[in-house]
Amino acid sequence: MAIVKNHSGCYVQFTVLFLIGSLLLFPLPSQSSDPDPLQDFCIGDTKSELSVNGFPCKPATKVTSDDFFFDGLSKEGNTSNPFGSIVTQGNVEEFPGVNTLGIAMNRVDIAPGGLNPPHSHPRATEIGVLINGKLLVGLITTGDVYYSKILTPGQMFVIPKGLIHFQMNIGEEKALIFTAFNSHLPGAVVVPLNLFLSKPSVPDDVLKKAFQVEKTVIDEIKSKLGA
Ligand code: GLV
Ligand code: MN
Repeated sequence: MAIVKNHSGCYVQFTVLFLIGSLLLFPLPSQSSDPDPLQDFCIGDTKSELSVNGFPCKPATKVTSDDFFFDGLSKEGNTSNPFGSIVTQGNVEEFPGVNTLGIAMNRVDIAPGGLNPPHSHPRATEIGVLINGKLLVGLITTGDVYYSKILTPGQMFVIPKGLIHFQMNIGEEKALIFTAFNSHLPGAVVVPLNLFLSKPSVPDDVLKKAFQVEKTVIDEIKSKLGA
């Protein structure tokens, strides 16, 4: 560390000041989620065959008001499935207007007793608000600590990036949640589907060993999940 004397005669710890200044001016990539946009907007051309980090921009001359609006989250989803829940996504693939903006939303409908099963988002932190129903929200840390709370309408939750979490409707009526993410494409690893319904399949021996069960149990889980 260099210690220098300035014009007014004060000693300054130069290296420390330089490091602090650099950190403030150039935040580390790990402090942000999606990169900042380089233009006002970049409506995603989701049909483009070009593969870039995000989608290429639709030509500005072809952009219309409709590109900035999306009504895909206005309708209730169909919860008739083994989990009794459905996530309707409003990420860049459905709503190309969010391309490069580092933001997306979902609507989650959960029938009474239904579960939005344990999953994680590899590219985003999630924040959510319960609109209707009574909801158990849980998350598990990398250190295997479980945090949870029962929410009533208007209450919110936050799920740090990458952590496994779930929502279960423990009330008598339908539950409705809106969630938001700091990525235009947060990704979702739905643990049961990921492990038991992947294509090609994870070898049964791996699943048997991982869960310490017989193949009949693995077969039963797969068939109940709709394999
Ligand atoms: C809820 O957890 C969601 O991913 O929308
Ligand atoms: Mn989630």
